Amino acid sequence: MADGTHRIGLLAYVLVHMIGNLKVFMGEHDIDEYAEGLRRLLYPIAPEESILWLFRAGLLAMFVIHIWVAVVLTRRNRAARGKVRYAPGRHYLAADYAARTMRWTGTIVLLFLLFHLADLTVGWANPDFIQGAVYHNIVSSFEVWYVALFYIVAQIALAFHIYHGAWSLFQSLGLASARYNNWRRWFAVAFAFVILIGNSSIPLAVQLGVVS
Ligand code: HEM
Repeated sequence: MADGTHRIGLLAYVLVHMIGNLKVFMGEHDIDEYAEGLRRLLYPIAPEESILWLFRAGLLAMFVIHIWVAVVLTRRNRAARGKVRYAPGRHYLAADYAARTMRWTGTIVLLFLLFHLADLTVGWANPDFIQGAVYHNIVSSFEVWYVALFYIVAQIALAFHIYHGAWSLFQSLGLASARYNNWRRWFAVAFAFVILIGNSSIPLAVQLGVVS
């Protein structure tokens, strides 16, 4: 998993989560029913919320691996490389630029995620939070302009993070070849762009009164 396969899972989660969130445009009933459906997956064969907790455990595991690989392994590799890091040359400059971008955007996404869970999952950051009333919670949260703005800024950071992550993913999986560089670049740009537009459209729609 440390080789990059966990990143496929995280990218899949972000995409599926965005598609689910877009149900907000279909109305209160649709998105609340969808969330209820997730809580009752395979119910009554399996206890209520049990499958959701399995997904949560998998997601958390992928996330912990992601941070571990990013922080611990990157540091260890850099220490092992020693002075080579400072050797002049475009290759190293490009690698340093990407690493710096990933550190910054990764930190913003992590802070966003902590706020996001407090805001829409647990409700600590949302005074109007009602358990299970997903549409209501989204609207009451994004009605506050600085919360909406923070979400959009975080989606921009996430888009850069995904762009670099998706681009280097093929390298980590050992599938990189100069022949496919164009394809890889387009895939990374398209994925990041779709997530940016899809997710940002929700706080924007609430601020514009399209979703209320
Ligand atoms: C504008 C964009 C987003 C919206 C409207 C949104 C909406 C929501 C909502 C309503 C919930 C609670 C669902 C429920 O309790 O039934 C939730 C949970 C969650 N969201 Fe988001 N989300 C957005 C972006 C993101 C992003 C970008 C990430 C990851 C980078 C993310 C990760 C999560 C996670 C991990 C949970 C907890 C899932 C669980 O434990 O059940 N969300 N989101």
